[in-house]
Amino acid sequence: MDVKNLNLAPPTGEQLLPCNSAFATHFNRSDFLFDHGLAYHPLFELSALRGLAARIPKYQNFVYWQNGSVNQEESWAANPASRLSLDETLAGIASNDSLVVLKHADQDSVYGPVLQEILQRIYDYSSPALQADIILGESLIFINSPRRKTVYHLDLESNFLLQVTGEKLVYVFDHADRSLTPHNELEDHCCGNINGAIYKPERENDAHFYHLTPGHGVHFPSTAPHWVHNGDQVSISININFDLVSVHDRLRRIYRMNRSIRRLGFKPTGPGTSQLRDTMKTSVSRSASFALDLVRRINKDPDASASYPMWRPNRTA
Ligand SMILES: [Fe+2]
Repeated sequence: MDVKNLNLAPPTGEQLLPCNSAFATHFNRSDFLFDHGLAYHPLFELSALRGLAARIPKYQNFVYWQNGSVNQEESWAANPASRLSLDETLAGIASNDSLVVLKHADQDSVYGPVLQEILQRIYDYSSPALQADIILGESLIFINSPRRKTVYHLDLESNFLLQVTGEKLVYVFDHADRSLTPHNELEDHCCGNINGAIYKPERENDAHFYHLTPGHGVHFPSTAPHWVHNGDQVSISININFDLVSVHDRLRRIYRMNRSIRRLGFKPTGPGTSQLRDTMKTSVSRSASFALDLVRRINKDPDASASYPMWRPNRTA
């Protein structure tokens, strides 16, 4: 697809993502609203996104879709309706109660330039401390059927959700509330259970509630639980997310080490209780990862998706 010939060139610079002081003050601290310039942009119409879906490399987990309606307390693995193909799901998204997630869109030849500019602009708007914490970024496209819900969950990534078409009601909970998300749920998530966060209906009123419309976005920090209820139209939104040193190279390692320690019969302390213990666990985990990576290289691990390119910030801009 030639973007210029089809007159699909998206805005750039401040028209794409205006500067907002909250990027510097609230990024990964608390949720906040911001504006963007991609509302109803034709590059994100369903016909164009079906092209993106066809181009995404056929690696495991590069595309996710779920057919049939779910409630917020259900899991990503719920299988409430007959499985459709990805293209069938997209073609009938207006009526088939489905959710599609197209991952690694920032590496696509058509969508890469605009999505990578958003990633870089958010990085540029961030505080120096947050910039130093960012390891890499990624962009995903969400396509939801009318009135469909997305299950309650948390992400280790720090999230920016940009609404392009349709509307969404987004419920975001406090990332730091251990009475809502106790250590055992975070440990589960960090050890690979993407359904580790358990929905608690009695805490629903504690959520911050956002009615997202085209041209607006919401940020929520790493590990902030959330669930989404789509409006009456098909919704298309862009997810921009960042991996952080403090989370992916520290918090996750500590929880994983705690799981190993617990299996040996001990009771580990949660992250943040002892800086010394946290540092020791992180160091041991890094050494183990290094050894495992060495074994994989020696055995020529054939997982090609492991070397798929990821966006990294231009730190000299
Ligand atoms: Fe999420």
